[in-house]
Amino acid sequence: MVQKREICFKVFRFDPDRDSKPYFQAYQVPFVRKDLTVLEGLFYIQEKLDNSLAFRSSCRSAVCGSCAMHINGGYGLACNTLVSSLKGNKITIRPLGHMNIIKDLFVDLEPFWKKYEFIKPYLISKTLPSDHERLQSHSERAKLDGLIDCILCGCCYSSCMVTLTKDEYLGPAALLWANRFYVDSRDDAKDERLAIVNVENGVWRCHTIFNCHQSCPKSLNPASCITNLKMKLI
Ligand code: FES
Repeated sequence: MVQKREICFKVFRFDPDRDSKPYFQAYQVPFVRKDLTVLEGLFYIQEKLDNSLAFRSSCRSAVCGSCAMHINGGYGLACNTLVSSLKGNKITIRPLGHMNIIKDLFVDLEPFWKKYEFIKPYLISKTLPSDHERLQSHSERAKLDGLIDCILCGCCYSSCMVTLTKDEYLGPAALLWANRFYVDSRDDAKDERLAIVNVENGVWRCHTIFNCHQSCPKSLNPASCITNLKMKLI
């Protein structure tokens, strides 16, 4: 009889209401298909082995950003990380970093959303009524390419060493969005947007480490967006 291959999922566990400290729990997950994803492995654990395991997910197609986590040493989306793309028979999974743990892989994203709200993530129209259609040329629209692909998963935020050391830092995701609206030809609040990020914990706090770029599952480059805002300010 052919022995089925199994993958060991070593998963971070912590229930602040019950546990005095975090620990890792190992689960054996059958490697049933070549295209098995890390998220499917977690669902297998939750449905067949341990229904107390907590994690977030929704779209299962790399669109909603809710399944972001730390997988074998790097941040990524569990739903588009193939088990076969990871080396060895063991996968170590941790929650997003620099965030309070609600339970296991489920973190409190409130500070992340507050910073996103702070940069006013919507078009500000001063010259036309907000319900008026605003046309863009192809080249104006092209400036938004890539920037609008951000799914706010939090991978860049968690990988940022500055966010780690300075809670108040707006962080790469919020600053990418600040730049996204700054470069949008339909937005009428350029000066206001620059003023929002021209603060102690805004763009000047970025050390251009590029962890954000490296960890982005959509291959975006928040550090270059931050640099663009710095250049405009200068
Ligand atoms: S579940 Fe939506 S991005 Fe992974």
